Amino acid sequence: MRISQHLLVFISVLSLTRAQTATVAATALESTVAPAENATTSAAEPWIAPAIFYPFRSAAGDTEHFLTGDESYESVALSTPYTFFGRTYNSLYVHYNGLLTFNQPEPASGPNYNPTRGAEDFIAPLWSDLDDMGWMGMFSYQQYTNGSVLTRATQDINQYFPQMNFTASWVFVVTWDYVDAVDMNSFIRHSAQAITFQVVLISNGSLSFFLINYGDCAVIYDQVEAGYDTINSIDHFVIPGSTNGYSVSNLRNTSNVNVPGRWAFSANSGLESIIGVQIRLTSFSDLTQSENIEAVLLRIKQDLFSRGLSSSIQMKLREVKKTQP
Ligand SMILES: *[C@@H]1O[C@H](CO)[C@@H](O)[C@H](O)[C@H]1NC(C)=O
Ligand SMILES: *[C@@H]1O[C@H](CO)[C@@H](O)[C@H](O)[C@H]1NC(C)=O
Ligand SMILES: *[C@@H]1O[C@H](CO)[C@@H](O)[C@H](O)[C@H]1NC(C)=O
Ligand SMILES: *[C@@H]1O[C@H](CO)[C@@H](O)[C@H](O)[C@H]1NC(C)=O
Ligand SMILES: *[C@@H]1O[C@H](CO)[C@@H](O)[C@H](O)[C@H]1NC(C)=O
Repeated sequence: MRISQHLLVFISVLSLTRAQTATVAATALESTVAPAENATTSAAEPWIAPAIFYPFRSAAGDTEHFLTGDESYESVALSTPYTFFGRTYNSLYVHYNGLLTFNQPEPASGPNYNPTRGAEDFIAPLWSDLDDMGWMGMFSYQQYTNGSVLTRATQDINQYFPQMNFTASWVFVVTWDYVDAVDMNSFIRHSAQAITFQVVLISNGSLSFFLINYGDCAVIYDQVEAGYDTINSIDHFVIPGSTNGYSVSNLRNTSNVNVPGRWAFSANSGLESIIGVQIRLTSFSDLTQSENIEAVLLRIKQDLFSRGLSSSIQMKLREVKKTQP
């Protein structure tokens, strides 16, 4: 039997939160154009972060920590508890090595990523031995419970997770900035290669989300990992390409929400629901053969993962319908 080239596949996605569906569906573009440089811009002017970045550093009122010791971190008490995939935390640990952990500090210099490790709840915007590169480095952070940052976070979450009608009541912005510089002026101007990224935790007191923003991402020659993991690894995600070793330069071009440099995730579990995804395949595959069905489901699953969906989803084929080409 000839199978038409256009097959509609109806698939049930189990354990998929509505919010995560929204991540996949979100297509709206946000302006990511950095402030335009004009002919008079010179190395003497301070570096300007990409537009996707939330305000940061002392100019925004942040608490700043400059790199001093090796593999060190700061514990931060949270003014509003943050629930990360079902576990609620009153504090977290910000590491110079581009890592944010919840249940315990992680003084290891690099990721040595093992997806089944599952000992920690962490967000790794760019986990690597950043404090050993001989660069100047710092992180700065701030918690917000009012003002324009909450408005911005509310808009971002409603854009990426549109069914939630979400209103942010607490936002935590932490920004890492590393520059291959020896003096503060060069550091501030980013007049040498740099690595700059940001994590934005957003909650309304019960639902939790987070954004990762990437700016400059100089190639470094060390282990790297970007993504998140949870205790027992029930939820985990690795940004594709971030563990291939030694090169992270394209992170600023990657996204799961069509905004280059930005990744948006729901940190909620227990919102399980059965939803349907209707997908139009454009290549030929005879779905009367079960091995072809498995292959197609795997392709779809991998595509959904690459857009930021949790690895805990399960897919089943419910119905295949032949339609006219
Ligand atoms: C160049 O840009 C800066 C800031 O964006 C502005 O203050 C300045 O007037 C501009 N100069 C010219 C010649 O356009
Ligand atoms: C936010 O709340 C803090 C502390 O209550 C207050 O000092 C600050 O002025 C408020 N900011 C805005 C923008 O309302
Ligand atoms: C969204 O929430 C606001 C207040 O939180 C409410 O006034 C509004 O009706 C809600 N919209 C929908 C579509 O549920
Ligand atoms: C958080 O947002 C969700 C979805 O809008 C809502 O159901 C829930 O009540 C909110 N939680 C709080 C504490 O406001
Ligand atoms: C990122 O995208 C820009 C514009 O599309 C391109 O010029 C640049 O080479 C890309 N960088 C990387 C590292 O892929």
